[in-house]
Amino acid sequence: MKSEAMQANGQNGGSTPKLISVLRGRPHPRPPIWLMRQAGRYLPEYRELRAKAGGFLDLCYRPEWAAEITLQPIRRFGFDAAILFADIMMVPDALGQTVSFEEGVGPRLEAMEPETLLRKLDPSGTGAKFGLIYETVERVKAGLPAETALIGFCGAPWTVATYMIAGHATPDQGPARLAAYRDPESFARLLDLLADVSVDYLSGQIRAGAQAVQIFDSWAGVLPEGEFQRWVTVPAKRMVAGLRALHPEVPVIGFPRGAGVFADGFVTETGVDAIGCDTVMPLAEMQGLGKQAAVQGNLDPLLLVAGGPLLESRTHAIIEALQTVPHIFNLGHGILQTTPIAHVERLVALVR
Ligand code: CP3
Repeated sequence: MKSEAMQANGQNGGSTPKLISVLRGRPHPRPPIWLMRQAGRYLPEYRELRAKAGGFLDLCYRPEWAAEITLQPIRRFGFDAAILFADIMMVPDALGQTVSFEEGVGPRLEAMEPETLLRKLDPSGTGAKFGLIYETVERVKAGLPAETALIGFCGAPWTVATYMIAGHATPDQGPARLAAYRDPESFARLLDLLADVSVDYLSGQIRAGAQAVQIFDSWAGVLPEGEFQRWVTVPAKRMVAGLRALHPEVPVIGFPRGAGVFADGFVTETGVDAIGCDTVMPLAEMQGLGKQAAVQGNLDPLLLVAGGPLLESRTHAIIEALQTVPHIFNLGHGILQTTPIAHVERLVALVR
C-alpha cells in the first residue's frame, strides 16, 4: 500500500505509472493498455451491483459503489489505468438540468434552447454533486496499485451541449447544430460556461487524485470545418489552457471522435498531451499525430467482440505501427456490452 507522503502529493512515490510517462511523450516497447468504458455491463460483477443500486445515477453518486465499480476491471484484467466511474451527464445534472437514464437507451434530459439553458443553469450550485464524485476519486486512489494510473474525465462542451439541447442522442445531432447556426452568440456562451464548469470539475478530480484527464467529444465528427473549429477546437483549447494554469503537470487527453482530417489541427491548436483516435483513423495518420502528441486507440470494439485471428493480427499491426511514438493501447470507442471477457483477457495478454 502507499505511504502517506505518496498519498499527500498525489504521486506514486517516484515510480511514475507507465501510462503517465507515455502521456509525457516517452514511447514504451510494450504500450500501456486501458479500455474506454472498461467498467460496465459486460462485467457480471458490474451487473450485480447495478441491480442493487436502483438507478444509474444513484450508482454514480454513491462513492463507495462507484469506487468499487472503477476498481472491478483493474482487479480482473490489471489494466495500466483506472478511469473514474461516472458519466458525462454529471455536468448538466450538477448545473440543475434534469437528467435521467432510460434502461438500455441512454441519457434523457429536459430539452432546451441555449438561451433558456443560460437563464436556468446555476454554476454556483454544482458543489454538492461534484463533491460526491471527488470522494469516489479519493476512494479509488486509496485502493489502486501505485503502478496503475487514475484517469479523471468529463464530456467536451460540444458533446454535452448536444444532449442538453436535444434531450437525447440523435443520429446527427441536428438540434444542436441548428441551434448553433441560428444563434451562435448564445451557443458560444453556453459552450464557454460548460468549458469553465468542466475545468473546475476536472480540477476537483485532480485534487482528489486523478493523474491525467480525458475530455470525451463523442460527437465531434458531425461538424463541418468552420463549426469543428469553433465548437470543438476552441473549447478544448480553452479547457487545456485552464487546466494548465491550475495543474501544469497533469496530462490532458482529447478525444474528438470522428475528427478525421481535422485531428492534426486539433492537436496543434489545443496543445493536448494526447489524442484519442477512433476506429476509422488510419495508422499512418496516427504515426503522424504521434510526432506531436501521444496517441491512443484505435481498435474496433466490434473486433474485440468477434475475437479470433483478426483480433490478433490487428492488435499486432497497431502496436508495430506505433512503436516509435508515444502510444497507449485502447479501443476506438467504448467497449460493447456483448464483449466476451475471454477476449479482453486475450487482448491484454497480446499487448503485454
Ligand atoms: O470508461 C469507463 O468505464 C468510465 C465510465 C463512463 C461511463 N460513461 C459509464 C456509463 C464513461 C467514460 C462514460 C462516457 C460517456 N457517457 C460518453 C462519452 C463516450 C462515448 O461512449 O461516446 C457518452 C456519450 C455518455 C452518455 C451515455 N451514458 C450514454 C449514451 C449511455 C447509454 C448507452 C450506453 O452505451 O450504455 C450512458 C450510460 C452509461 N454510462 C452506462 C455506463 C456504464 C450504462 C448504464 C447502465 O448500467 O445501464
